[in-house]
Amino acid sequence: MTSTEDSEILKTLFQYQNGFLISKIMFTAAELGVFDLLRESEEPLTAEAIAEGLGTSHIGMQRLLEACVGLKLLRMEMRDNKGFYGNTALADLYLAKSSPKSQYSDMKFDSELYYPSFQYLADAVRSEEGIQLYFGALKNSWILYCREMISEFDLSQFHHICDLGGGSGIFAEEHILSYPNSSVTIFDLPEVVEKAKKNFVALEESQISFQGGDFFKDSVPEADLYILSRILHLWDDEKCMQLLTKLYKACKPGGGVLVIEPVLDEERVKYFGAHFASIKLLVHTDGKTRTPSEHKALLTAAGFKEIQAKHGSVYGALLGRK
Ligand SMILES: C[S@@+](CC[C@H](N)C(=O)[O-])C[C@H]1O[C@@H](n2cnc3c(N)ncnc32)[C@H](O)[C@@H]1O
Repeated sequence: MTSTEDSEILKTLFQYQNGFLISKIMFTAAELGVFDLLRESEEPLTAEAIAEGLGTSHIGMQRLLEACVGLKLLRMEMRDNKGFYGNTALADLYLAKSSPKSQYSDMKFDSELYYPSFQYLADAVRSEEGIQLYFGALKNSWILYCREMISEFDLSQFHHICDLGGGSGIFAEEHILSYPNSSVTIFDLPEVVEKAKKNFVALEESQISFQGGDFFKDSVPEADLYILSRILHLWDDEKCMQLLTKLYKACKPGGGVLVIEPVLDEERVKYFGAHFASIKLLVHTDGKTRTPSEHKALLTAAGFKEIQAKHGSVYGALLGRK
């Protein structure tokens, strides 16, 4: 490799390594209004005047302006030993909010919505690891509460169970340990089922089976009891009704549905676990945590009867019959 090739490679490396800083410097200067102030002033301004005009610290603004000069977003001329800053054509045309060709809204969207989520790009690419981590997280909490939830009701009359959105299968495993004559089909998204299968090398195939599919779009396996564990809180009432109605139709008379959820109390004051879940759901999904009567209303509207509700130390359980 010649020394010219080597320095080209190093330049590229430097640019790629610092690319995120370039975007953020440009977003920040635009957001603070640097390009607008300079566009409106029609004459170059000192760092002090810009900091004062925008209500920022002098030192911070000075550094931001110098970086913008390095990126050719601003130009600087020295007068009487003082730097005076003005917009370059690029900033004046595209970065100032008041320019008719301004790209500010698009940039603000990138800065506020996409920039933070790119923190998780590696997780998204590393999905194998992501699913394992997800299974691990689900498993951790069920190690503590699964047995308690399974023993809330006598489920011995149900022989074949379908665990919808059964994930890693830990719930199915516990169910079989508590009811050794039962069998469970774990129904989950195909990519999740593929991973979950590997966890079950030790269990009898006749007792545990897997089916990949989407419970909103595909038909669900036949079963005496459908388990919906930590599923309904992920969706709004309309989606929950869609799923529960489908299960009611799939159920034989005498069959049922078991819902396990972080359930609120009727006054919505107890059970911090359900409140924490609710806050997380606000950020990530259309779902919500519900009170026992909100759950009962959904189950009843779908057709289920004889609904019983119980609450364990953290999770709540409701059993409905057809
Ligand atoms: C919060 S986890 C609950 C897992 C498990 N039931 C438990 O309690 O540990 C939600 C599960 O629903 C599955 N899921 C989400 N949407 C689904 C869909 N449309 N069809 C089938 N499974 C789905 C996810 O893959 C995930 O395993």
